[in-house]
Amino acid sequence: MSRPKVFMTRPLPAPVIERVAARYDLRVHPEDEPLPPAQLAEGCREAEGLLLSGGRVSEEILAQAPRLRAIATVGVGYDNIDVEACTRRRIVVTNTPGVVTEATADLAFALLMTVARRLVEADRFVREGHWRRWQWGLMWGTDLYGKTLGLYGFGRIGQAVARRARGFSMRILYYAIDRLTEAQEQELGAQFVDPETLLREADFLSLHVPLSPETLHLIAARQLAMMKPTAFLINTSRGKVVEEAALVEALQSKRIAGAGLDVYEREPQIHAVLPTLPNVVLTPHMGTATWQTRLAMASLAADNLLAALDGQRPSNPVNPEVCT
Ligand code: 8YV
Repeated sequence: MSRPKVFMTRPLPAPVIERVAARYDLRVHPEDEPLPPAQLAEGCREAEGLLLSGGRVSEEILAQAPRLRAIATVGVGYDNIDVEACTRRRIVVTNTPGVVTEATADLAFALLMTVARRLVEADRFVREGHWRRWQWGLMWGTDLYGKTLGLYGFGRIGQAVARRARGFSMRILYYAIDRLTEAQEQELGAQFVDPETLLREADFLSLHVPLSPETLHLIAARQLAMMKPTAFLINTSRGKVVEEAALVEALQSKRIAGAGLDVYEREPQIHAVLPTLPNVVLTPHMGTATWQTRLAMASLAADNLLAALDGQRPSNPVNPEVCT
């Protein structure tokens, strides 16, 4: 009797491949690239399980995958999956929260420090041979000490960024749909404020919300106009949370001082003006790109998939109502 099929959309680490292949007829897309819809649909056609890394799971794809019972995405965000359509079809969807937290918070903080102290500009300056003498006025940046960090969204990653900021003696403000308890706020040294106060008072505004219809273009011209002209925007969440054209306009007109961006509205395409601006630092959606974190993500996604296919409740269901 043939074994049930699982489709993996890119080659994940070998131990993960081996573990899934030991129990299922596993097909791995051999290239490290997000799959276009037609190829994803083709891969899912006979599969009962999908280990998804990148690519968009739409209703159309599900309609061509009648045997699909579980989708385990490798990442915390699942805005690339039509979860409602999955729930209607009783397909379990899982993600990998928790394991992505520290690496993503590290990158957010690294971007913050990089823009504050102009590290990329400084590195380029030295490499290109422009450094002739020590100068009093060379490469002035801004302190972190005593500055206000505004965290928009205060889940696991936002809180992990707050922990880092405490070590740098920053003042921490946050806004989130769910306010923390007083005890939690005290432990993190973070003060809850309304979104407008957050935008107006932040010296560094860091975004930590998931992408949803409510957070699409959360930061647009109106919000950017409320920020201090000396403030920096840091985005490690999702590109579509920021209206990129409005951000470019705000950066060009010095409406804000700079930005550190890991995600983009139409990534991997980037607004043509962004790379020409000296006051922005650009990274290629790499918040979770560490050896330890990527391995932990792939391995947790496999745990979730195997549990769901076994009819058990996986650790990280996105639509728990489907789980038995
Ligand atoms: C993934 C991420 O690399 O966890 C997330 O939500 O953004 C990243 O860890 C991304 O989802 C690509 O699959």
